[in-house]
This record gives sequence, C-alpha cells and structure tokens, in this order.
Amino acid sequence: MRCSKSTPPSSKSGQASAPACAAISCRACSTWMTASSSCWTWSACCRPRSWNNWSHRPSRLRPWRALKFKDVCLMTSALSERAFLQLQRFFADASGIQLASGKQTLVASRLRKRVELLGLPSFDAYCDHLSMPGNEDERQRAIDLLTTNETYFFREPAHFEMLSRLLRGPLSTGAIRIWSAACSTGEEPYSIAMSLADLRPDGNWEVVASDLSSRALDAARSGMFRMQRLELMPAGYLQRFCLRGTGKYAGNLLVQRTLRQKVRVLMHNLLDSGAMLGRFDVVFLRNALIYFDAAKKQAILSRVIDQLLPGGLLFVGHSESLHGHRLPLQRVDKAVYRRI
Ligand SMILES: C[S@@+](CC[C@H](N)C(=O)[O-])C[C@H]1O[C@@H](n2cnc3c(N)ncnc32)[C@H](O)[C@@H]1O
Repeated sequence: MRCSKSTPPSSKSGQASAPACAAISCRACSTWMTASSSCWTWSACCRPRSWNNWSHRPSRLRPWRALKFKDVCLMTSALSERAFLQLQRFFADASGIQLASGKQTLVASRLRKRVELLGLPSFDAYCDHLSMPGNEDERQRAIDLLTTNETYFFREPAHFEMLSRLLRGPLSTGAIRIWSAACSTGEEPYSIAMSLADLRPDGNWEVVASDLSSRALDAARSGMFRMQRLELMPAGYLQRFCLRGTGKYAGNLLVQRTLRQKVRVLMHNLLDSGAMLGRFDVVFLRNALIYFDAAKKQAILSRVIDQLLPGGLLFVGHSESLHGHRLPLQRVDKAVYRRI
C-alpha cells in the first residue's frame, strides 16, 4: 500500500488525531492521506451528507412507533380501487408511466411503510395528503417509491465493450460528452466514467447522469455503493477507481472523488426537452423505455435523439425494441443505434 506520511490538513499538533473530511485513514500505517491516494480504504468521516440523511430519520417522523403492529397492518392492508386509480393517475402525470391494473399489490407494498410512517389511516388518506397544495416533497417521495431503480455496474457488458472500442478508435481524441439518461442510483454513469478514465486519461470528457427519482440521485451523488454485483466490473477497476469502506462502512465502496467530480448528476424528466443539457456523442437510455407505452416511448426517444450529435450513438436496453418507431436512427448493433 502506498501512502504519503504527511500530516492531515486539520491537524495542528502534527499528530493524526481527528480526520479531516477530505482525508482518509490508512489502516496499515495509521497516517493520513487524501482520498486521491492509492490506499483503498476510507474512514467514517468521509461519508457524504446524503448518506447521513438517508439512514438517520428523526424520530418525530415515526408516530407509528407508538402503534401496535397489528393495528398498523389492519389500517393500510387494503388499497382501495379509488386510491389505486388516483395513484395511477398521479404517477402517469409525473413520470409518463402507466401502472397497469393488476399492479395493486406492488403499489401497496411500495407505499405501505410511508403511509404508516405518516400515521395515516389508509391509502385513501395518503392520496388526499398527496394532492394537498404545498406537498411537493411528499409527491417527490411517492415518485421515488414508485419508480423501479434496479441497476448494477457494467450491466449489459456488450455496450461497455463497444464503448471501449469507440474510445480506442473514433472517440480517442477530442472532447466527449456522454449522457446516462435514466441513471438510477449511479452504477451506470460511474461505469461509463471508469471506462473513460481508463481509456481517455486526458480527462477531456464529461458524463451527465439524470433521473426522475431524487432518492436515486442522492445515492448517485454520494458515490457510495454496496459491494455486491461487481462481477462484471473489469479486473483492476475496483482497486483503481474505488475506496473500500472500513468499520461501520465495511461492505461498501466509495467511487473516488476525482471520478465523482467528472459525473454531473441532475434531475431530468424524460418527458421534458433535454435542450438545457446540451448535445452528446453517446446517450445511454437503458432499461427505462420498457416502462412506457408506444406513444410515450416515441415522444421520449424523439426528445433524447434531439440531444444526440449527428453520428452520435444511442444505447438502449437489450430487451428494449425500437421496432415500429419512426426515428432518425440507423441500427449499428444489437441495442445500439446511430443518429442520421
Ligand atoms: C431500471 S432503472 C435503469 C437504470 C440504468 N439505466 C440501467 O440500465 O441499469 C429505470 C430508471 O428510469 C427512471 N425513470 C422512470 N421514469 C422516468 C422519467 N419520466 N424521467 C426520468 N427518469 C425516469 C427511474 O427512476 C429509474 O431509475
């Protein structure tokens, strides 16, 4: 393990006592080093604020604690037809996704804890609460709970193999912009950033990561992930681009700050124009289209393609078909299209 034997910026006495937030502790030699060093550990002080927010809810938000478990279960066990229709309409307006009838169990399971936490007697009462003026935060929370955020590092590796070929060939020089257009909790944009950092060490690139779920975006911004489903990550990337959590963060990894700084994370609804984001050489729009009906899919694709430079590439999920859509795209490979 390489580490500088320097004193942390916050220590005046010359003794490494309390860690500065930008410093990490090397367990091997007990000296301090910056997060950009090659030591593969980080200390608890480096945790991002959002992680804190997420894991420590104030107890005043837990009125249900005073209730007996069986009462709570009785209160919210049934999702009425009226409540389901209201939630269906709310989510379709917000995201463009139509929750199919038959998804009542899914919706109830995703929202039940929240309804209980608020101390509300039923899903109907929750719908009333959602529609009250000024309850934007609650509406965002409901969107967070209703979206499906399944993702993992280097998912659908054929796309990353193609990206590597591009970065060694036509995209080996010049500025590059890549958009992860439904980035979820961030594994996709950081996979892209790792590929770029590896093959374009000049740093003349940027990754933009967007999603509709603020909770997913908080996770993406934190750059902290469970150490799981990493089997598709190329050998050496974990040690090169991530720090391993110790102590209470054991079992987690933190993407290195230099890489986190290259990924711009922001909220963007795919139903809206992406003009403010600028234009891109490559767009990853994967495993999101599958949730939309044909008309919404066409509208979203048109908006996303508007942000592709001529000749730019669009990657969609391997299970997503563009068949039947009239779009200025030419198929290049499975789930890869070029803007014409
Ligand atoms: C299954 S994840 C896909 C994550 C990643 N692209 C991948 O392939 O692993 C789908 C994401 O689409 C997002 N999403 C759904 N509707 C959206 C919308 N209208 N605008 C932006 N993002 C949306 C969800 O929040 C979710 O994070």
